[in-house]
Amino acid sequence: MIKGGIDTALRAGDAERSLIKYPALILLGAALQGFFRYCWRINIHGFSRRCEADLRDRVFSHLQKLPLSYFQYAKTGDLMSRLTNDIHAVRELMGFGSLAIVDAVVVIVFSLTLMITINPWLAFWSMLAMPLIPIVVRFFGRQIFRWSRDTQAQLSDMSAYVLENLSGIRVVQAYAQEQNQIRGFDAISSEYRRKSMWLTTLWGIFWPLMQVMAGLAATVVLWLGGRQVLQGTMTLGEYVAFTGYLGMLTWPLMAIGYTANQYQRGTAALSRIAEVLDTPISPRYRALPASNGSPPIRGAVEFRNLTFVYAGADAPALKNINLQIPAGTVCAIVGETGSGKSTLVNLLLRLYEPEDRTIFVDGVDIKQLPRRRLEDAIGYVSQDIFLFFGSVRDNILLGAENGETDRVDEAARIAQLLPAIELFGAGFDTVIGERGMRLSGGQKQRTALARAIIKKPPIVILDDAFSSVDAETEDEILRELKQFTQGRTTLLISHRLSTVRDADRIVYLRAGELIEQGTHTELIARRGAYYELYRRQNLAREVESMARAEGRP
Ligand SMILES: Nc1ncnc2c1ncn2[C@@H]1O[C@H](COP(=O)(O)OP(=O)(O)OP(=O)(O)O)[C@@H](O)[C@H]1O
Ligand SMILES: [Mg+2]
Repeated sequence: MIKGGIDTALRAGDAERSLIKYPALILLGAALQGFFRYCWRINIHGFSRRCEADLRDRVFSHLQKLPLSYFQYAKTGDLMSRLTNDIHAVRELMGFGSLAIVDAVVVIVFSLTLMITINPWLAFWSMLAMPLIPIVVRFFGRQIFRWSRDTQAQLSDMSAYVLENLSGIRVVQAYAQEQNQIRGFDAISSEYRRKSMWLTTLWGIFWPLMQVMAGLAATVVLWLGGRQVLQGTMTLGEYVAFTGYLGMLTWPLMAIGYTANQYQRGTAALSRIAEVLDTPISPRYRALPASNGSPPIRGAVEFRNLTFVYAGADAPALKNINLQIPAGTVCAIVGETGSGKSTLVNLLLRLYEPEDRTIFVDGVDIKQLPRRRLEDAIGYVSQDIFLFFGSVRDNILLGAENGETDRVDEAARIAQLLPAIELFGAGFDTVIGERGMRLSGGQKQRTALARAIIKKPPIVILDDAFSSVDAETEDEILRELKQFTQGRTTLLISHRLSTVRDADRIVYLRAGELIEQGTHTELIARRGAYYELYRRQNLAREVESMARAEGRP
């Protein structure tokens, strides 16, 4: 059209008319092209965005179900970058990548054909410099990608550092680590600056280089084509159109080089994502044949020849444990730190996978028990408490089905949380900060206890749940709890023997082995490990009360 416009304008008499006609045609052509591009861009982008969201949801829900042993070795920052950066790279490939390549091929074929039709000889010469473009783009693209990935990684390191620092700000301040932390941050931050600067330099070289190459082809055309125009073997219109088509080629050629990199990046990202998705989910999430109409769980727990070794550990954490806990009774578990108490209950919860036929609930191997049935049957207060950002009420309700909101009060009362809640400005709606930052250690434990209580489960597991409350509050909680645990199987782990002395049965673990079991009186009469511990704790208490009686601290 440009060619037609110029040539007619130069030749014919009705120049005025064609000066309006051709620009109008050009405008129409551009508008049509724009419209079609818009339509299929929206389509492709919409499609790739949907795929991206879908993939992200799949990876996240898969992560929820991976065995805990996986997270022991995986790095949080790395997993987060797979969820964000890698999925982003895959989308780029599907969206922009596929778009660009189709776009490029159409434009290249179209322009080249027209250029060859206009002047094959000129087309040949001008094309000599062009293949360099994708090659240079690919080379620089690779460098740029490498550095931008490094910069990105540095950025995640930086956020991980800040995250850890803020979560541990108490320890930082208490141990006067501020200066060390600032220095550490400064090192990461400067490294980030260095990498970003290098990235900027690369871009800085890349663009002018592209311009030089595009200019090279233009120079060839100007030189050879200009001569032809002067000799009259080529019309001016042809010449202008030719340079127009040449100009249109620069972008698609760059896009080809760029897409080649994107392809590499996208497939690498895809393989990192596939690695997560290919990790088998924890066996607890595997579907079991539906067992309709099974009776409610009563709560008899049995450990049978249970031996357990953590993945990667040399020695077993538990050795040949045999223990029967009748439904509705309280079994206390005591023992030195690291003796395997938490491991025992974690296995009952299937947080880690026990061997087949080693743990039974109501006589059924827990590995044959549908996951929901087991989860619903157990109320659990873990040793290290995790609270979510939100209100006290939301955190307590985590353990409850819908419609149990009215029982929050009762659960909080049993857990002795009410006095604390009255102190909070907004009562149950008080937002407790990330990880329950605004609560004291004992308040956190009592919130977690309320969370377990509101479920009204047949089995209750309290793993050192009173370690942060004072002896008096503990007595009160135990008194209230006694009514609650009536008829529920309770596994009570504690370091304080005063907590466990009323239990129906007390078991003593040492280095993963169950070495004594019986009631408090029986174990005292045995004069074994439990007796020793009791004597030591009693002695300590007596010394304490004597000191108090004498008015010393
Ligand atoms: N995830 C894990 N991976 C490997 N080893 C672990 C893991 N968790 C615990 N252990 C090891 O298993 C042993 C038992 O740990 P466990 O947490 O059961 O002790 P515990 O009796 O609950 O101690 P505490 O009274 O301090 O809570 C310890 O030697 C510990 O190092
Ligand atoms: Mg423990």
